Amino acid sequence: PKRTRVHHLLEWKREGRRWPMLTAYDVYSAEIFDDAGIPVLLVGDSAGNNVFGHDNTIPVTVDELLPLTRAVVRGATNALVVADLPYGSYQISPAQALETAFRFMKEGGAHAVKLEGGARFAPQVEALAGSGVPVMAHLGFTPQSEHALGGFRIQGRGDGADRLVADALALQEAGAFGVVLEMVPSDVAKRVTAELTIPTIGIGAGTDCDAQVLVWSDMAGMNRGKVPRFVKRYADVGGVLHDAAAAFAADVRDGEYPGPEHSYH
Ligand code: KIV
Ligand code: NA
Repeated sequence: PKRTRVHHLLEWKREGRRWPMLTAYDVYSAEIFDDAGIPVLLVGDSAGNNVFGHDNTIPVTVDELLPLTRAVVRGATNALVVADLPYGSYQISPAQALETAFRFMKEGGAHAVKLEGGARFAPQVEALAGSGVPVMAHLGFTPQSEHALGGFRIQGRGDGADRLVADALALQEAGAFGVVLEMVPSDVAKRVTAELTIPTIGIGAGTDCDAQVLVWSDMAGMNRGKVPRFVKRYADVGGVLHDAAAAFAADVRDGEYPGPEHSYH
């Protein structure tokens, strides 16, 4: 296989081929997901919750996300690696977005970046796309705006549907290569998917998006707490890791580990 490129994602949309995306935050997860055939990896600012233990993505900084991006890029042989632009690192101006994105491309080795927000951020998207930075957009529930949106709530209901479609079209027009739709009613996501020539990547956005993304720690059961309704749990990695640690602990306490075979003579 060869490196996934943005043009492949556009081809897959035209061909009606669906594709998966997962977050990754370190080299092992990147290697494993790449090997499993995940063509796009997202170094999400969901690292705020899933790596750093924050309640949300708001405190995540560029300096925190850069080393994770480098690790994922090192682990990903074939996947297109997208890095999230953290809260406060692109909203001020297109110039700020460019400065931040250049750091992710040059220092992080990212192949693309993602930012949250609607038509108001079209100038940022246009500046990036025009400067050689592929940009993925993110609409619907945008976690960086949790406090403005009044918590974890479905977006694009009622009057919001037309706004969402208009935002998606504006971002496509500005040069985005894809749009994440998070927590959007199925029929609205279906409408956006039909109107755009760039792929929609759904998360809690029904059955009709061009692609699907999940946070890997939710998808694989590394996160052992409560997960949103839209998550399907494909494994109990947290349980496996717990049992491995407990077995190691018991072996050490019982004098079962290390054995002679683990020792130098
Ligand atoms: O940070 C993240 O994990 C994301 C995905 C859920 C799209 O933005
Ligand atoms: Na994110």
